Amino acid sequence: MTEPNGGPQAEPSPPASSVPPVQPYYAQHAAALADRYESLAFDTVHQDFLPLLPPPSARIADIGAGTGRDAAALAARGHTVLAVEPVPELRALARRLHPSPSIHWLSDALPGLPRLAAEAGRLDAILLSAVWMHLPEPSRPPAMRRLHDLLAPGGRLFLTLRHGPPPEGRQLYDIPAHETVVLAAQHGLRPLQHTQAADHLARDHVHWSTLTFEKERP
Ligand SMILES: C[S@@+](CC[C@H](N)C(=O)[O-])C[C@H]1O[C@@H](n2cnc3c(N)ncnc32)[C@H](O)[C@@H]1O
Repeated sequence: MTEPNGGPQAEPSPPASSVPPVQPYYAQHAAALADRYESLAFDTVHQDFLPLLPPPSARIADIGAGTGRDAAALAARGHTVLAVEPVPELRALARRLHPSPSIHWLSDALPGLPRLAAEAGRLDAILLSAVWMHLPEPSRPPAMRRLHDLLAPGGRLFLTLRHGPPPEGRQLYDIPAHETVVLAAQHGLRPLQHTQAADHLARDHVHWSTLTFEKERP
């Protein structure tokens, strides 16, 4: 079920079993986080991905879309974007900040993403910007399998991974990039790009891996 921009603002309550609870941090700090996320430009944060993005008009899912910065940039590039965000406070903010008929908002969460069932094998690309590191180890293999299944043959997975000491109060893991590359390969996703990047918010203790994978063609 999608929530197109411009549609009714009321949020239907998802069945408790379909969207796993996400840590309360994002709901409690949504407004402050919007200032931080929106201070960064898509072209800067995701500069490693720019040459690898599919041509418009692609069907792209932005999983853990937050305040919609990246969804809006992809829509502006001519793509149709499924912006998947489990936190209602962030979705509401994002729709106000980035009204676009090309962005369709959904409440869903990794690892299962049950509400994307109709997208299986259809997505040209999936973006996970600063999201994968929230997944505990047991959730990562089913999440990677799900991402693989959602992609069309030749579809691409773009992923950024935060490194550094996890901040207090958040479920956040410092996941080695190598672990993610191995897991992706085990699920039929071959690496296209892997870069170490400094933190765009200039935090000394934080750095990033940017990773791109491609789903094998039959
Ligand atoms: C650090 S924020 C990044 C937001 C946005 N992608 C960006 O780059 O600005 C992490 C986002 O992941 C979402 N998130 C956390 N756990 C998730 C899960 N299991 N499935 C999907 N999204 C999740 C949070 O609600 C939050 O919006």
